Amino acid sequence: MLFFMSLALFSISSAQQKALYKNSEAPIKDRVEDLLSRMTVEEKIGQMTQLDITMINTTGVQKDVELDAKKAAELVRNHHIGSFLNGESVDHVTWYNFIYELQKIAIEESRLGIPIIYGIDHMHGASYLETGTIFPHNLNLAATFDPIHSYNSADVTVKESADLGHHWIFAPVLDLGRNPKWARFYETYGESPYLAAKLGSEYVRGIQEPKEGQKIKIAATGKHFLGYSDPKSGWDRTPVDISDQTLYEFHLPAFKAALDQGIKSLMVNSSEINGIPVHADKKILTTLLRDELGFEGVVVTDWDDIGKLVTYHYTADNFTEATFQAVDAGIDMSMTPLSLRFNESLLQLVDEGRITEQRLNESVRRILNLKFELGLFDNPYPNNKRYDRIGSNDSRNKALKAAEESLVLLKNQDAILPLTQDTYKNILLVGPSANSKRNLSGGWTIAWQGGEEARFPEYVNTLYTSLKATFPESNIVLAENWKDSDKLKKLSKNADLIISAIGEEPYTEFVGNITDLRLPEDQISLLKTLGSAETPHVSIFIGGRPRIIEDALSSMDAFLWAGLPGFHGADAITNVISGKVNPSGKLPFSYPKYSSHFTPYNHKPSDVYFFNPEEANNIEQGEKMVWQWPFGYGLSYTNFEYSDLKLSNTEITFNADLVATITVTNTGNVDGKESVLWFIRDRVGSITRPVKQLKNMNPILLKAGESKEISFRIQPIEHLSYPNKTGKLLLEEGSFLLMVGDQQVEFKISEPQVSKR
Ligand code: BGC
Repeated sequence: MLFFMSLALFSISSAQQKALYKNSEAPIKDRVEDLLSRMTVEEKIGQMTQLDITMINTTGVQKDVELDAKKAAELVRNHHIGSFLNGESVDHVTWYNFIYELQKIAIEESRLGIPIIYGIDHMHGASYLETGTIFPHNLNLAATFDPIHSYNSADVTVKESADLGHHWIFAPVLDLGRNPKWARFYETYGESPYLAAKLGSEYVRGIQEPKEGQKIKIAATGKHFLGYSDPKSGWDRTPVDISDQTLYEFHLPAFKAALDQGIKSLMVNSSEINGIPVHADKKILTTLLRDELGFEGVVVTDWDDIGKLVTYHYTADNFTEATFQAVDAGIDMSMTPLSLRFNESLLQLVDEGRITEQRLNESVRRILNLKFELGLFDNPYPNNKRYDRIGSNDSRNKALKAAEESLVLLKNQDAILPLTQDTYKNILLVGPSANSKRNLSGGWTIAWQGGEEARFPEYVNTLYTSLKATFPESNIVLAENWKDSDKLKKLSKNADLIISAIGEEPYTEFVGNITDLRLPEDQISLLKTLGSAETPHVSIFIGGRPRIIEDALSSMDAFLWAGLPGFHGADAITNVISGKVNPSGKLPFSYPKYSSHFTPYNHKPSDVYFFNPEEANNIEQGEKMVWQWPFGYGLSYTNFEYSDLKLSNTEITFNADLVATITVTNTGNVDGKESVLWFIRDRVGSITRPVKQLKNMNPILLKAGESKEISFRIQPIEHLSYPNKTGKLLLEEGSFLLMVGDQQVEFKISEPQVSKR
């Protein structure tokens, strides 16, 4: 009897071993097809479903990363669920245990042993890992104009969280930051398509490249495809109207660059563009994304966005119809995420013949392919042997450096900054962000809306604690109640310097919707009160978008835009104001002067036309009216002089390159970093052309007195062409203006061509 039983077991296990999809030596394509051929319709639908952590944890509350094995086994065994997401900040051991147990259930309880893929919003470092390193948010990284920082942010995220089983990072946000009122502005790389493409694709490289000693690879997710970021009202998830030409020219490049970098997945835009919710838009999700751009990765919906076709967009009467619209449009996986209604509806649609099994196969193929490519079938379990990599000094230094280089000095009257130790003995520190850790990191930190203050690690400084450490000789007085103006007036008199820390509290998505971009009235009046004292006043803005400060600007001697610099933000700020670090950040957006007029730097000439005959056509005049500070603006403690802009040729044909050179000199007496930004203007176009477009950048370090010659090879198709409304690139003859620093030069191109995309 015993003999027979073991023989039977042997034959089952050898049959399983023979399954091609289990053979790690076999080509992935064959493994996918083999597995697909073994799956039932229900199993396929399960792979297309992603559920939230609250469906499988013990309490049903986001922050509890503790598995309810019974719930998980039921969902895996009976509903074949292939993916889960989310959580909040807990320590690495808790994450390891959670993913280990969940994966064990997936491998052992699913009929075919298919591993789960776990998705998580690690947006600026491992946001939901208590012991992880937190970088500045993307808008800050953009202010560095140096892709190394977005690479480092991704690289550190993976080094700290991949071993724990965080397979699928829901970043980078590749939406263009064109509307400063939008609550997700800080998640973007700002308003330049070129900058977003460069930083976004470096982030993808940092996430997806194989890492030493790491058995699995990690997938990045470009979001939110496409055209999410410029809602008419500025409110999140509200309608967007964008012409096809604008989509191609401004919103697509960052996604295209991520695709070229091999990004493995995309998440869909939750809102509607041009009247169609993108989750139901076949033209965008299939014609553009698959047919035209050739994307072969996984497309996941955003949070319950199939449901929102019924309850929010009203393009579907019921969930089954909504499921049809989204699957037919081209989604692969539904982040359902709190019920099984997607599974039920999709099964019904297959039974009714409205969705074919063939259509399911297309999506399941992509999902399985992703799981095989990451190595999850061969190495499904997390690794608890390398915890010492988490929160290392090296990673924290990288986050600090990124934060330092992301701060933008916008005003520095009479060179009040950097502060000298001896001059300021009594410093008054005041404002809503003076003693806050959470305000420095913003949303997507510890928790979705930003964790409570007590959940931040002890080593994280607030501006107050960092100032005390930086200026040990000074008496730093923290004004506890920044709204008490009488008290403040008295305190101001006793101080020889005032530092105000103003801005915003953390928010994420629609929770951060505002009706007015002006800095809130109570903060404006704080600034005015502080400004009315004779005492010098340095103001620091901490927040996710440029709040309008025109009314209070004269009350400050210096103004530093700190954005959301992350866990090391306070130290970065004190390093800059004390002069330990020379500021080098530049605005990655046009800082608006008024709350009702937003004009990006790459606007059309007619955007700044106004009805004053003497000033019409004077672009600069119009820009000055609407901007507090232009894109690319940022002061340093030294001066950089640009000279000798030269071109290898001033007339070229469409198939010849052109080399431009410029000399940049640090004429001051401190070393500094300068991002050399090259802009091009196409003088005349058959489709109206922006007044300037960033086409190249070189972040360089220059010692005091040092000069460097920098060059830029201009390639007509890449730098001078632009898409028409079908995405076809146009290269038109005519003259172009090349601008760098305060220098500019003109050149011509002849022989017009229409190239194939
Ligand atoms: C956001 C996404 C995020 C997802 C999962 C959504 O509400 O729009 O950016 O990845 O939630 O948390």
